Amino acid sequence: MAKIDNIDLGEFPLLLAPMEDVSDPPFRALCKEYGADMVYTEFISSEGLIRDAAKSVMKLDIYEKERPVGIQIFGANLESMLRSVEIVEKTKPDIIDINFGCPVKKVVSKGAGAGILKDVDLMVKLTEAMVKKTNLPITVKTRLGWDHDSIKIYEVAERLQDVGCKAISIHGRTRAQMYKGEADWKPIAEVKNNPRMHIPVFGNGDVDTPEKAVLMRDEYGLDGAMIGRASIGSPWFFKAVKHYFETGTHCEPPSLVERVDIARRHLQMSIDWKGEKLGVFETRRHYTNYFKGIPHFKEYRMKMVTSDHAKDVFATFDEVEDKFADYEFVE
Ligand SMILES: Cc1cc2nc3c(=O)[nH]c(=O)nc-3n(C[C@H](O)[C@H](O)[C@H](O)COP(=O)(O)O)c2cc1C
Repeated sequence: MAKIDNIDLGEFPLLLAPMEDVSDPPFRALCKEYGADMVYTEFISSEGLIRDAAKSVMKLDIYEKERPVGIQIFGANLESMLRSVEIVEKTKPDIIDINFGCPVKKVVSKGAGAGILKDVDLMVKLTEAMVKKTNLPITVKTRLGWDHDSIKIYEVAERLQDVGCKAISIHGRTRAQMYKGEADWKPIAEVKNNPRMHIPVFGNGDVDTPEKAVLMRDEYGLDGAMIGRASIGSPWFFKAVKHYFETGTHCEPPSLVERVDIARRHLQMSIDWKGEKLGVFETRRHYTNYFKGIPHFKEYRMKMVTSDHAKDVFATFDEVEDKFADYEFVE
C-alpha cells in the first residue's frame, strides 16, 4: 500500500504528472474519472503567487471530485516559498509538492526546478522549512541529478526523507538530458531499495504502455507510477493500465461515441472554469488528439481548431459522431 502521510493511495497507484498547460482542473478531473489515483496541478511559480499574478492564482483552483490532489510550486527563494505555502494552504489541497525537476532554462537559471540539483543543501533546507511551515504533507518531484556525472538521487532522497518529505517522485532523467534518451529507472529502484527509505518512491518517465507500468511495479519494485505524456489526448490511459493489471489483457480503446462524449465534457468543463474564449482555445490540443487516427479527418480537425465559439465546436462534435460512429480505434 502506498500512503502519503494519511492519504491511502492503494496498491501501486497511478499518478497524473504535473504538466504545464495540460494538467488543469478539467483534464485532471477526466484523468481521475478514468482511474488516476492522485493528480497534480501544473507547476505554480512561488514568485507569481506572492505577487498575486492572475495566471498563478488561477492554477490554485481545484475541484472536489479530483481529490486527492497535490498543488505543485517552484522557486528557489526561501521566503517566497514559505509565503506561497501560506497562500496554497488556504485552497486546501491534500498535498503540496515541490518541483525540483523542471529543466527549462528560464526556471533553472534562477536556481529553481532542476537548477536546485546543483545545490542539494539548499534543496534540503527549503524542503525542511516548508515541512515545518505547514501541516499538509510536503512531497518532492525531481530528477536523477544535474547531469550524468552528478547523479546524487540516492543521497538526496534520504536527506529529503530525513527532513520530513512524505513522498518522492523521480523522473529517470538528468537535467542535462531534458527529455532525450530513455528514462533510466535503475537509480530510482536503488532509492526504493535503500533500507533506510520508508516513504513512497514513485517512478516517472516513459510509462506509455500498460506493460511498462507492470515492469515498473514488478521488476523495479517501485511504489507507484507517475504518468505524463501518455495521458495527453488519452485520459483513459490510467484505466487501460488498471485493466491490464487486473486481467493481463488490453482493454478495448474507447469508442468514437465515448470519445465525443469525453470531448464534449472536457470542453464544457473548460468553459465553466475559464469562460468561453479561453475554454475553447485551450482545450483544442486535447480534443484533436482524442480523434487521432481517423482517416480523412482534416476537415473536422480544422473546424475544431479554428472555431472561436463553443456552439460551433459542439456542432462539429455532433457531425463527427454522425459521420464516424462506426470507426474502430486500435491502440
Ligand atoms: C507539456 C509538459 C509540461 C510539463 N510540466 C511540468 C510541470 O509543470 N511540473 C513538473 O514537475 N513536471 C512537468 N513536466 C514533466 C512531467 O511531469 C514528467 O516528469 C515528464 O513528462 C516525464 O514523464 P512522462 O514520460 O510520463 O511524460 C511536464 C512535461 C510535459 C510534457
